[in-house]
Amino acid sequence: MPIILEIIGLTHFCFNFATDKFDGKQPLSLTIEKEFAQNSKRFKSVDQHPTEPWILVSLYSGTVCIWNYQSQTLEKSFKVTESPVRSAKFIARENWIVTASDDKYIRVYNYDTMEKIKEYEAHTDFIRSVAVHPTLPYLLSCSDDKVIKLWDWEKDWSCTQIFEGHSHYVMQVAFNPKDTSTFASASLDGTIKIWNIGSPTAEFTLDGHSKGVNCIDYFSCRDKPYLLSGSDDFTAKVWDIETKSCVQTLEGHEHNVTAVCVHAELPIIITVSEDGNVHIWNATTFRLESKLNYALERVWAIGHLKGSD
Ligand SMILES: *[C@@H]1O[C@H](CO)[C@@H](O)[C@H](O)[C@H]1NC(C)=O
Ligand SMILES: *[C@@H]1O[C@H](CO)[C@@H](O)[C@H](O)[C@H]1NC(C)=O
Repeated sequence: MPIILEIIGLTHFCFNFATDKFDGKQPLSLTIEKEFAQNSKRFKSVDQHPTEPWILVSLYSGTVCIWNYQSQTLEKSFKVTESPVRSAKFIARENWIVTASDDKYIRVYNYDTMEKIKEYEAHTDFIRSVAVHPTLPYLLSCSDDKVIKLWDWEKDWSCTQIFEGHSHYVMQVAFNPKDTSTFASASLDGTIKIWNIGSPTAEFTLDGHSKGVNCIDYFSCRDKPYLLSGSDDFTAKVWDIETKSCVQTLEGHEHNVTAVCVHAELPIIITVSEDGNVHIWNATTFRLESKLNYALERVWAIGHLKGSD
């Protein structure tokens, strides 16, 4: 079964990890095949559709595109605004995309009809990231105004909770897939905070990076919940959520770490950096297994498809 991971710079790429023989027992040999490359304007975010062969890319120019990585063609393009669109996500169960941009607006489009469903001013400064709840009609947004907001689209996108506590820009928010009433936030104040969607103050704070935190991703290992974070201190850290402590620091990047993810199917951690490198780490031993450099400029975002390699 082909499994796809994409790593996107000024050029975006799809890769196929050739792992036909991987059964969880044999050592995993990482043969990486580049499947698809497409030049674009400077991009800010990437998301993957759960069932269609589509990737959603948001651009600094204010445009959002859906690329079909099988036919290698542009499916749709939306001119959202004149400002950078820092985050765009599929809400596949509604046939929507949601965008967040430097003009402080959240916009929602139906990707079949291209109709704009909703548009509203959500924050008082740039919006850095949005996260879609896996089952409930909730969207989280975070901003340079230091605030995180929860929106309920079944209540006409009203803001049902405001979360305050960070002292600098909030760069990313992510729902905990194992406990979807909680989520994490990464901030340039150097901390990660864990929140409950019913409470305006953080449950606890993970403090350990020496500079701002740009990105986070939840994962589990032997049924224990962990969090991965990437920072301007050039490292990524693995946190044990139960003991609230850092269990590993991944060192090797030579510039700010901009995006991190733990692969849903393969036991690998992927980190990307402004040094232009993509690092693949062993999720069990935390050893650096592979370093990819395709002479990209700053690498800014990664996405991967569940149920696929
Ligand atoms: C991770 O390390 C273990 C132990 O050395 C090894 O068996 C496994 O194949 C490694 N995984 C990857 C993805 O390289
Ligand atoms: C990298 O991190 C530093 C320190 O937080 C920040 O000032 C800088 O803008 C970041 N990006 C680049 C391209 O230097």
